[in-house]
Amino acid sequence: MKNIPVILIADDQLPNIELLEAFLSPQGYCLLRAQSGDEALTKVNEVAIDLVLLDVMMPGMDGFEVTRRIRANPAFRQLPIMLVTALREKDDHLKGVEAGCDDFISKPVDKIELLARVRALLKVKAYHDLIDDYQKRLESDIATRTKELHQALADTKAASLEIIERLSTASEYRDETTGHHICRMSHYAAAVARQLGLDKAKVELILYAAPMHDLGKIGIPDRILLKPAKLSPLEWEIMKKHTLIGANILKDSDIELLQVGELIARTHHEKWDGSGYPAGLRGMEIPLYGRIVAIADVFDAMTTVRPYKDAIGMDAALDTIRADKGSHFDPAVVDAFFGILDEIRAIKQEYETSEQREVDMQELHTLLSQYRENTALAYTS
Ligand SMILES: [Fe+2]
Repeated sequence: MKNIPVILIADDQLPNIELLEAFLSPQGYCLLRAQSGDEALTKVNEVAIDLVLLDVMMPGMDGFEVTRRIRANPAFRQLPIMLVTALREKDDHLKGVEAGCDDFISKPVDKIELLARVRALLKVKAYHDLIDDYQKRLESDIATRTKELHQALADTKAASLEIIERLSTASEYRDETTGHHICRMSHYAAAVARQLGLDKAKVELILYAAPMHDLGKIGIPDRILLKPAKLSPLEWEIMKKHTLIGANILKDSDIELLQVGELIARTHHEKWDGSGYPAGLRGMEIPLYGRIVAIADVFDAMTTVRPYKDAIGMDAALDTIRADKGSHFDPAVVDAFFGILDEIRAIKQEYETSEQREVDMQELHTLLSQYRENTALAYTS
């Protein structure tokens, strides 16, 4: 807020301006002159003015019109305007009020009356300035806090996603799959979800929750998880528990992403005809997320080379999925999958290249195989 109030005196008669200046100057105000309506408007636009003393009867643009034009600008809604007038007619006062002035003073101007009214109007202006400043500071503070809050939320979300990704990676190291399996199958699942008409938020949920589908493998003993031969019936029963172990790790969370992760972990091996595991759910009893991830997981497993098996090729994989429509897979999800084959191929290609990480995994699995052979006795004892 300014310390010295600025007052604009607008009158076409210089002696009138000088008279008001003589009254006001001793009060320490900063006084500006305008000798026409146009000049008054220019000064109002160029200088931060606190009060306008405006002669009504000016040639060209009169005081009423100057008042109207000042008020037309929202920035000057609170600028006090006092009309200095010889008029005593009520109609003219009404005209002044309608134009937007705040006060009148009659000629000949009485010094005491002028000083009292000027002081009152300047007080009101100072109060409005204070409120304006406060409001601007408040808006600025809110904008800053809102920005900080958005950043904090974005950071939290990024941290959550990173933790989930790293958690999924941890379970990956227990298995013979690669990091690219996780990327490919989650992108397949998201693409199918989009094709099924799920909204953007749900598509994003499945994209980030699908990597947790095999989290439960972390709880399966090495001798079963890494067994290079066919599993015995008992081993297979234990292996199937990875669905429930994963669901158990993720259960009771308030975070929607983890809730979807739990659903997916629990139901990605259920089958449409009820022959899947762990619960033997049938048809629509299986959550949609589980039905979608099932096809993404199986398709990727079929079309990917693993240390213990070759890929069966895209066409053969598609034949299998087509054949399993209505038995293993939800028919609607199969239709959605076949509706976006170009996108599926593009995802497969994008994450197919054998990058450094896969080479590292390959080396790790070779070492693990050697280790298993060397410690076979320990496993069987
Ligand atoms: Fe699984």
